[in-house]
Amino acid sequence: MLVTGRELLLDAQKKGYAVGAFNVNNMEIVQAIIEAAEETNSPVILQASQGGIKYAGIEYIAALGKVAAEKAKVPVALHLDHGTDFDQVMLCIRHGFTSVMIDGSRFPLEENIAYTKKVVEVAKAVGVSVEAELGKIGGTEDHITVDERDATFTDPDEAVRFVNETDIDFLAVAVGTAHGVYKGEPKLDFDRIKTISDMVKIPLVLHGSSGVPAEALKKAISLGICKINIDTDLRIAFTEGVKNFLKENPDNIDPRKILAPAKAMMKERIKEKMEVFGSVNKA
Ligand code: G3H
Ligand code: ZN
Repeated sequence: MLVTGRELLLDAQKKGYAVGAFNVNNMEIVQAIIEAAEETNSPVILQASQGGIKYAGIEYIAALGKVAAEKAKVPVALHLDHGTDFDQVMLCIRHGFTSVMIDGSRFPLEENIAYTKKVVEVAKAVGVSVEAELGKIGGTEDHITVDERDATFTDPDEAVRFVNETDIDFLAVAVGTAHGVYKGEPKLDFDRIKTISDMVKIPLVLHGSSGVPAEALKKAISLGICKINIDTDLRIAFTEGVKNFLKENPDNIDPRKILAPAKAMMKERIKEKMEVFGSVNKA
């Protein structure tokens, strides 16, 4: 069933687990995520980035997400990932997204507050949840790139002000993770996660979570992370599936045969993540 992000994350916060938010770009990815969620009885978030929307088209991505969610035996939210443009956030709301992220992290604090507030006013009026980002998460997520030197951790005092003034539902924090493939092992600032969580009270979101060791993710969840975003690890699994199949079957020309193992690889990777997040049997 289709639900809001807020509904999912408040339950996760109460029970001490995290909901996986997985990036979607096509039908096979949506199916892999939903099948993994149903087989593990996990709540889940399907999220489309601006790149994903550009690739598939808003009508296709929204229709895929809504059909999948409505048919699913587990609660599913349809979320916009890293929305940087007010009009696009509105477009997603109009197409039935139940949750949106407005990413104003490129702005100074005052502007980020003002930009985020504008979205919250509209989204709240129509029952759509809002995630926003404070601090700057490094790395590359589709067309958004933040150089390592420009990445800044979330300041706990600023976080309190940001949450109070914007009235967002959940906060994406910069605490040492980065988008894309890591060069070394990421070092999470666990004290910062705990401090922010204690101070802001709302569920926190961890971006750039691919490649973060399971133990670090579990610890982050125990300190207040309630939504974990995964994109890169799914891309890797999907591509591995395609490559392996074509290596074994170089003459095959059936897209269904080529994509089936990719979908299966991705589904297994998602189920492993759900175990780590503690969302299994929480649907
Ligand atoms: O918003 C999406 C996530 O933060 C994805 O990060 O590509 O490192 O998994 P990732
Ligand atoms: Zn992200």
